[in-house]
Amino acid sequence: MSIIPVPRVAVIVVAAGSGTRLGAGSPKAFVGIDAHTILRHALRGVFDAPEAQVIVVAPDDRVGDATTEALGAAGGRRDLVSVVAGGATRQESVAAGLAAVWADVEIVLVHDAARALTPPDVFARVIDAVAEGSDAVIPVLPVVDTLKRVADDVVVEPVDRSVLAAAQTPQGFRRAVLDGAYRDAAADHTDDAALLQSAGTQVRTVPGDERAFKITTTADLDRARALVEPVPRAASPASPSIPRVGMGTDVHAFGGDDTLWLAGLEWPGEPGLKGHSDGDAVAHAIVDAVLAAAGLGDIGTHFGTAQPEYAGAHAAAFLARTRALAAEAGWVVGNVSVQVQANRPRFAARRVEAERVLSEALGAPVSVSATTTDGLGFTGTGDGVAAFAVAVVFPA
Ligand code: CTP
Ligand code: MG
Repeated sequence: MSIIPVPRVAVIVVAAGSGTRLGAGSPKAFVGIDAHTILRHALRGVFDAPEAQVIVVAPDDRVGDATTEALGAAGGRRDLVSVVAGGATRQESVAAGLAAVWADVEIVLVHDAARALTPPDVFARVIDAVAEGSDAVIPVLPVVDTLKRVADDVVVEPVDRSVLAAAQTPQGFRRAVLDGAYRDAAADHTDDAALLQSAGTQVRTVPGDERAFKITTTADLDRARALVEPVPRAASPASPSIPRVGMGTDVHAFGGDDTLWLAGLEWPGEPGLKGHSDGDAVAHAIVDAVLAAAGLGDIGTHFGTAQPEYAGAHAAAFLARTRALAAEAGWVVGNVSVQVQANRPRFAARRVEAERVLSEALGAPVSVSATTTDGLGFTGTGDGVAAFAVAVVFPA
């Protein structure tokens, strides 16, 4: 029973490690267990646990991917999610997550994404123990193996396992105590409980769970693969057989530093457009139209300034990601029609080329039309370009 009726809780899911010991060639959190990644499975446990702010800490160059995973797992609770870039050590990653905790949160849990199959009731036990008055709580399992202290390959002495426990996550803390310990941290610790204990805080234990084991090696990954149940699709279509349409518009002003990129093509000699990416209004209108059709928010949700890997990116990167986002939510793109309004460049000679490039990147037919506006408006005066797109998506 919680003493605080509605605990104000945040869960920091650290997923910024490289997974050296797993050696899968990509950061551990993005390795698949089944059709879904370690991170996605970890987040399923988090979202099935008592409601909390959820902060995912991802490798610097994978913030966009982590956002896709987090939004997919969040379903209707996307407003609870934020994703931040981690640091070189686990402790630095936790600190980055801690900086994103909302002001009124009182209890903070720190959880390893690598403990992907942790059941929701472990979160509940930890939250309750903190709510009942403990400053620091960790889930533990008894040690089952017979333990020996060794020097090289010689046994020095047996170790009494009854006084030992194996620590797991999520580890839960009173927010003010955790903030203080991180502010004053002088050394690097492998878990948060060790950091707090070094600062003099008493750490309590609650029962852990065998399924909360950490995926560290390929043997652990095999064990996880044998245990998983399929993840239900988060954003299932409202009606399974009915297509959905979406629209998107975008505008960019001339005055960028580089040459023009528009409709997925480079236009040498033409003045560039200003924007966080390459200013390709045609591509961005398509992205918005597809995301709207799939009910996945808009371009800012998935490609905002929080995703630095899209700074300077061209249409192909945006459209490929958009297609993947739609697929993840259970949609295939039927087709897209996009119209660009601009005095220049002249589209007629390259319209077919633009359609080919955009269609290939999106994996669906994209038709491009172009018009001028008879000298009227900002497109007529040549200050910028506007693009308007309509997309249709079908349940996969
Ligand atoms: N972690 C992190 N930032 C780091 C290092 C680790 O967020 N700089 C996270 C990992 O993503 C993981 C958890 O901390 O979820 C536990 O770390 P570990 O199992 O050691 O993962 P890795 O550091 O990725 O693996 P390895 O040590 O084998 O490289
Ligand atoms: Mg590590």
